[in-house]
Amino acid sequence: MDKLLNVALPKGRLGENVYKIFETAGFPCPSILEGSRKLIFENREAGVRYFWAKPSDVAIYVERGAADIGVAGKDILLEYEPDVYELLDLDMGKCRMAVAAPKNFKDDSRYTLKVATKFSRIAADYYASIGRDIDIIHLNGSIEIAPILGLSDVIVDIVETGTTLRENDLEVIETIVPISARLIANKSSFKFKQEQIEKIVREMSGHRKQ
Ligand code: PRP
Repeated sequence: MDKLLNVALPKGRLGENVYKIFETAGFPCPSILEGSRKLIFENREAGVRYFWAKPSDVAIYVERGAADIGVAGKDILLEYEPDVYELLDLDMGKCRMAVAAPKNFKDDSRYTLKVATKFSRIAADYYASIGRDIDIIHLNGSIEIAPILGLSDVIVDIVETGTTLRENDLEVIETIVPISARLIANKSSFKFKQEQIEKIVREMSGHRKQ
Protein backbone atom coordinates (compact mmCIF):
# COMPACT_ATOMS: atom_id res chain seq x y z
CA MET A 1 0.00 0.00 0.00
CA ASP A 2 1.10 3.57 -0.82
CA LYS A 3 2.77 5.11 2.23
CA LEU A 4 1.51 8.60 1.50
CA LEU A 5 -1.77 9.47 3.13
CA ASN A 6 -4.18 10.13 0.24
CA VAL A 7 -6.72 12.79 1.10
CA ALA A 8 -9.78 13.63 -1.02
CA LEU A 9 -10.83 17.21 -0.42
CA PRO A 10 -14.12 18.66 -1.67
CA LYS A 11 -13.30 21.34 -4.25
CA GLY A 12 -14.38 24.75 -2.95
CA ARG A 13 -14.24 26.94 0.12
CA LEU A 14 -15.08 24.16 2.59
CA GLY A 15 -12.21 22.07 1.20
CA GLU A 16 -9.78 24.97 1.56
CA ASN A 17 -10.74 25.44 5.21
CA VAL A 18 -10.40 21.74 5.83
CA TYR A 19 -6.94 21.75 4.22
CA LYS A 20 -5.83 24.44 6.71
CA ILE A 21 -6.69 22.12 9.59
CA PHE A 22 -4.69 19.31 7.98
CA GLU A 23 -1.78 21.73 7.65
CA THR A 24 -1.91 22.49 11.38
CA ALA A 25 -2.05 18.76 12.07
CA GLY A 26 1.40 18.41 10.47
CA PHE A 27 0.43 17.61 6.88
CA PRO A 28 1.32 20.83 5.01
CA CYS A 29 1.34 21.23 1.25
CA PRO A 30 1.11 25.02 0.71
CA SER A 31 1.14 24.89 -3.11
CA ILE A 32 -2.44 23.61 -2.89
CA LEU A 33 -3.72 27.12 -2.13
CA GLU A 34 -1.95 28.78 -5.06
CA GLY A 35 -5.08 28.75 -7.17
CA SER A 36 -3.83 26.83 -10.19
CA ARG A 37 -5.92 24.35 -12.18
CA LYS A 38 -3.82 21.50 -10.85
CA LEU A 39 -5.85 18.90 -8.95
CA ILE A 40 -3.25 16.70 -7.22
CA PHE A 41 -0.62 17.94 -4.77
CA GLU A 42 1.86 15.99 -2.72
CA ASN A 43 4.43 16.63 -0.04
CA ARG A 44 6.57 13.52 0.31
CA GLU A 45 8.35 14.82 3.43
CA ALA A 46 5.04 15.31 5.20
CA GLY A 47 3.79 11.98 3.79
CA VAL A 48 0.62 13.34 2.24
CA ARG A 49 -1.07 13.62 -1.15
CA TYR A 50 -4.15 15.81 -1.55
CA PHE A 51 -6.53 15.93 -4.43
CA TRP A 52 -9.54 18.08 -5.22
CA ALA A 53 -12.63 16.04 -6.03
CA LYS A 54 -16.17 17.06 -6.82
CA PRO A 55 -17.80 17.13 -3.35
CA SER A 56 -20.33 14.46 -4.29
CA ASP A 57 -17.52 12.15 -5.51
CA VAL A 58 -15.31 12.23 -2.38
CA ALA A 59 -17.07 9.23 -0.81
CA ILE A 60 -16.52 7.15 -3.96
CA TYR A 61 -12.73 7.70 -3.81
CA VAL A 62 -12.69 6.85 -0.12
CA GLU A 63 -14.95 3.80 -0.36
CA ARG A 64 -12.80 2.29 -3.11
CA GLY A 65 -9.51 3.14 -1.38
CA ALA A 66 -8.22 5.64 -3.97
CA ALA A 67 -8.29 8.03 -1.01
CA ASP A 68 -7.56 6.97 2.57
CA ILE A 69 -9.63 9.74 4.04
CA GLY A 70 -11.80 12.59 2.81
CA VAL A 71 -14.44 15.10 3.73
CA ALA A 72 -18.01 14.55 2.59
CA GLY A 73 -21.38 16.07 3.43
CA LYS A 74 -23.81 14.05 5.53
CA ASP A 75 -26.28 14.46 2.63
CA ILE A 76 -24.04 12.37 0.38
CA LEU A 77 -23.47 9.76 3.11
CA LEU A 78 -27.21 9.38 3.67
CA GLU A 79 -28.02 9.28 -0.03
CA TYR A 80 -25.36 6.83 -1.22
CA GLU A 81 -24.57 4.95 2.01
CA PRO A 82 -20.93 4.34 1.06
CA ASP A 83 -19.14 1.60 3.02
CA VAL A 84 -16.75 3.92 4.91
CA TYR A 85 -16.08 4.91 8.50
CA GLU A 86 -17.55 8.22 9.55
CA LEU A 87 -14.94 9.50 11.99
CA LEU A 88 -15.96 13.00 12.92
CA ASP A 89 -18.64 15.65 12.51
CA LEU A 90 -16.57 18.67 11.49
CA ASP A 91 -19.29 21.16 12.41
CA MET A 92 -18.58 22.95 9.11
CA GLY A 93 -20.55 23.20 5.87
CA LYS A 94 -23.74 23.30 7.89
CA CYS A 95 -27.13 23.29 6.16
CA ARG A 96 -30.29 21.16 6.25
CA MET A 97 -32.20 18.78 4.02
CA ALA A 98 -35.73 20.06 3.69
CA VAL A 99 -39.03 19.76 1.87
CA ALA A 100 -39.96 23.02 0.18
CA ALA A 101 -42.99 24.11 -1.81
CA PRO A 102 -44.56 27.18 -3.40
CA LYS A 103 -46.12 29.51 -0.83
CA ASN A 104 -49.68 28.47 0.12
CA PHE A 105 -49.10 24.87 -0.99
CA LYS A 106 -51.54 22.45 0.65
CA ASP A 107 -50.87 18.74 0.50
CA ASP A 108 -53.89 16.74 -0.67
CA SER A 109 -53.51 13.15 0.52
CA ARG A 110 -55.97 11.85 -2.11
CA TYR A 111 -53.21 12.28 -4.70
CA THR A 112 -49.71 10.89 -5.01
CA LEU A 113 -47.29 13.68 -4.14
CA LYS A 114 -44.81 14.54 -6.89
CA VAL A 115 -41.38 15.17 -5.37
CA ALA A 116 -38.43 16.54 -7.38
CA THR A 117 -35.00 15.94 -5.89
CA LYS A 118 -31.35 15.10 -6.35
CA PHE A 119 -31.64 13.02 -3.16
CA SER A 120 -34.03 10.23 -4.13
CA ARG A 121 -33.15 7.86 -1.30
CA ILE A 122 -33.41 10.53 1.39
CA ALA A 123 -36.77 11.64 -0.03
CA ALA A 124 -38.08 8.07 -0.32
CA ASP A 125 -36.99 7.19 3.24
CA TYR A 126 -38.52 10.35 4.65
CA TYR A 127 -41.92 9.90 2.99
CA ALA A 128 -41.96 6.17 3.80
CA SER A 129 -41.40 7.11 7.45
CA ILE A 130 -44.55 9.27 7.43
CA GLY A 131 -46.52 6.86 5.25
CA ARG A 132 -47.07 9.26 2.34
CA ASP A 133 -47.25 7.93 -1.23
CA ILE A 134 -44.94 9.78 -3.57
CA ASP A 135 -43.69 9.81 -7.11
CA ILE A 136 -40.00 10.76 -7.22
CA ILE A 137 -38.71 12.84 -10.10
CA HIS A 138 -34.94 12.59 -10.01
CA LEU A 139 -33.15 15.76 -11.18
CA ASN A 140 -29.49 16.74 -11.16
CA GLY A 141 -29.66 20.40 -10.18
CA SER A 142 -31.73 23.62 -10.23
CA ILE A 143 -34.35 21.65 -8.32
CA GLU A 144 -36.17 24.83 -7.32
CA ILE A 145 -37.64 25.36 -10.77
CA ALA A 146 -39.52 22.02 -10.76
CA PRO A 147 -42.60 23.12 -8.76
CA ILE A 148 -42.68 26.49 -10.50
CA LEU A 149 -42.94 24.78 -13.88
CA GLY A 150 -45.44 22.18 -12.68
CA LEU A 151 -43.00 19.28 -12.90
CA SER A 152 -43.49 18.51 -9.20
CA ASP A 153 -45.58 19.55 -6.18
CA VAL A 154 -42.65 19.89 -3.76
CA ILE A 155 -38.88 19.52 -3.71
CA VAL A 156 -36.47 17.84 -1.32
CA ASP A 157 -33.23 19.77 -1.38
CA ILE A 158 -30.45 21.38 0.59
CA VAL A 159 -31.20 24.71 2.21
CA GLU A 160 -28.30 26.74 3.46
CA THR A 161 -29.09 30.45 3.65
CA GLY A 162 -32.60 30.04 2.20
CA THR A 163 -31.84 32.61 -0.51
CA THR A 164 -32.51 30.29 -3.46
CA LEU A 165 -35.92 29.38 -2.05
CA ARG A 166 -36.84 33.00 -1.27
CA GLU A 167 -35.83 34.26 -4.68
CA ASN A 168 -38.00 31.60 -6.31
CA ASP A 169 -41.05 32.12 -4.05
CA LEU A 170 -40.69 28.81 -2.29
CA GLU A 171 -40.65 28.06 1.43
CA VAL A 172 -39.56 25.26 3.71
CA ILE A 173 -42.46 23.15 4.89
CA GLU A 174 -40.47 20.49 6.76
CA THR A 175 -36.87 19.96 7.83
CA ILE A 176 -35.83 16.35 7.25
CA VAL A 177 -32.32 16.31 8.72
CA PRO A 178 -29.51 18.72 9.63
CA ILE A 179 -26.42 18.35 7.45
CA SER A 180 -22.72 19.04 8.08
CA ALA A 181 -19.35 17.95 6.75
CA ARG A 182 -17.92 14.65 8.03
CA LEU A 183 -14.42 13.22 8.05
CA ILE A 184 -14.60 9.76 6.49
CA ALA A 185 -12.04 6.97 6.13
CA ASN A 186 -11.57 3.91 3.98
CA LYS A 187 -12.03 0.86 6.19
CA SER A 188 -8.75 -0.87 5.41
CA SER A 189 -6.74 2.40 5.41
CA PHE A 190 -8.07 3.02 8.89
CA LYS A 191 -6.32 -0.16 9.98
CA PHE A 192 -3.07 0.28 8.06
CA LYS A 193 -2.59 4.05 8.39
CA GLN A 194 -4.13 4.33 11.82
CA GLU A 195 -1.41 6.51 13.33
CA GLN A 196 -1.60 9.21 10.66
CA ILE A 197 -5.38 9.16 10.59
CA GLU A 198 -5.70 9.37 14.37
CA LYS A 199 -3.37 12.38 14.43
CA ILE A 200 -5.68 14.15 12.02
CA VAL A 201 -8.78 13.15 13.97
CA ARG A 202 -7.23 14.55 17.19
CA GLU A 203 -6.33 17.83 15.48
CA MET A 204 -9.74 18.16 13.90
CA SER A 205 -11.59 17.43 17.16
CA GLY A 206 -9.57 20.22 18.78
CA HIS A 207 -10.57 22.67 16.06
CA ARG A 208 -14.20 21.73 16.29
CA LYS A 209 -14.42 22.70 19.94
CA GLN A 210 -12.97 26.20 19.45
C1 PRP B 1 -27.61 24.06 -3.47
C2 PRP B 1 -29.03 23.58 -3.22
C3 PRP B 1 -29.83 24.84 -3.33
C4 PRP B 1 -28.87 25.90 -2.82
C5 PRP B 1 -29.26 26.25 -1.40
O1 PRP B 1 -27.46 24.18 -4.83
O2 PRP B 1 -29.40 22.59 -4.16
O3 PRP B 1 -30.17 25.10 -4.67
O4 PRP B 1 -27.56 25.33 -2.83
O5 PRP B 1 -28.48 27.28 -0.88
P1 PRP B 1 -29.12 28.59 -0.23
O6 PRP B 1 -30.17 28.15 0.73
O7 PRP B 1 -27.97 29.27 0.46
O8 PRP B 1 -29.68 29.43 -1.33
P2 PRP B 1 -26.09 24.08 -5.59
O9 PRP B 1 -25.44 25.42 -5.57
O10 PRP B 1 -25.28 22.96 -5.06
O11 PRP B 1 -26.59 23.81 -7.08
P3 PRP B 1 -27.57 22.73 -7.70
O12 PRP B 1 -28.31 21.97 -6.64
O13 PRP B 1 -28.49 23.54 -8.54
O14 PRP B 1 -26.67 21.85 -8.48
